[in-house]
Amino acid sequence: MAARDQEIGRIPHIPVLLGPLLAAVAPVEGNWLDGTFGAGGYARGLLEAGAARVTGVDRDPLALQMAADWAGAYGDRLRLVAGNFAELDAHADGPLDGVVLDLGVSSMQLDRAERGFSFQKDGPLDMRMSQEGESAADLVNSAGEGLLADILYHYGEERASGRIARAIVEARAVEQITTTLRLAEIVAKCLPRPKPGQSHPATRSFQAIRIAVNTEFDSLAEGLQAAERALKPGGRLAVVTFHSLEDRIVKRFFQIASGAEANANRYAPARADSAARFEMITRKAVGPDAAELAANPRARSAKLRVARRTAVPAARIAPAALGLPEFQPKKGRR
Ligand SMILES: C[S@@+](CC[C@H](N)C(=O)[O-])C[C@H]1O[C@@H](n2cnc3c(N)ncnc32)[C@H](O)[C@@H]1O
Repeated sequence: MAARDQEIGRIPHIPVLLGPLLAAVAPVEGNWLDGTFGAGGYARGLLEAGAARVTGVDRDPLALQMAADWAGAYGDRLRLVAGNFAELDAHADGPLDGVVLDLGVSSMQLDRAERGFSFQKDGPLDMRMSQEGESAADLVNSAGEGLLADILYHYGEERASGRIARAIVEARAVEQITTTLRLAEIVAKCLPRPKPGQSHPATRSFQAIRIAVNTEFDSLAEGLQAAERALKPGGRLAVVTFHSLEDRIVKRFFQIASGAEANANRYAPARADSAARFEMITRKAVGPDAAELAANPRARSAKLRVARRTAVPAARIAPAALGLPEFQPKKGRR
């Protein structure tokens, strides 16, 4: 029912893993921050579960505008901020009891052709969540072939990255690439026709370009550390990821910040790390159950990880230690 409602536009975005998230962060009390407000499903869930106040942050101004007709019902318990969760400690309304991040794009962004995220609907090649800065068309029409190949490979795990980068450069020499379907067509021509049940051949390339346009991994690395600074001792951090690359960054962050790395030698006796800045609440990543998958197939690859902040002071982790690919999509190699 929910999936059908969403298809016909009655529900803008079905929250993913909300039940397991609320169970893992219980009891929900005090001051929370939702760094990926979207359609507000998590923020509303937190308010209904007992949060005294929630700051909802989103870099997409349209997401916040869409909440205008219901947000007022929560009065000053819900405060909306247009911004990047990379600076969530600056957006927070005092020390936090909890932070939630539900990464990636919303169905509202994906389903609106004019936002340019979809390889299934024709629209301008845009993909900017914040609606400002360099668009996907700017990137695709100006980046050097080597940089395009790096982006496709490192942000999309696309094995045909070199071939696709070459095809993009050849196509744009004839005519600028300005629409989503044109890019999807160029990518599809470089790859074998998908077998039934396989994803669209442009899936990985679109993911990669979207990550580059929105500098998503840099924001994630910064956002996790901003959450560490903003949380009170005992405060909880819950993160939902949608693909293996971002999940790897979150997993690595929690491994380092919880001191699990120090216990990585399986032959040595495990020991509690007195310098741990987080303690894991979920031992393994939590995925959707069969009922959620049936109601919302987009939940398929979602993974939830939750940890509790300790009283140990926050410390800086270099992005490279989190496994961020070491190349600069916006600088140098143009
Ligand atoms: C998957 S949706 C969140 C859906 C939300 N949990 C709900 O239940 O409606 C992700 C949202 O996060 C926003 N977003 C992604 N990266 C962001 C960032 N670095 N800072 C702020 N918002 C971001 C996107 O614009 C999008 O609206």
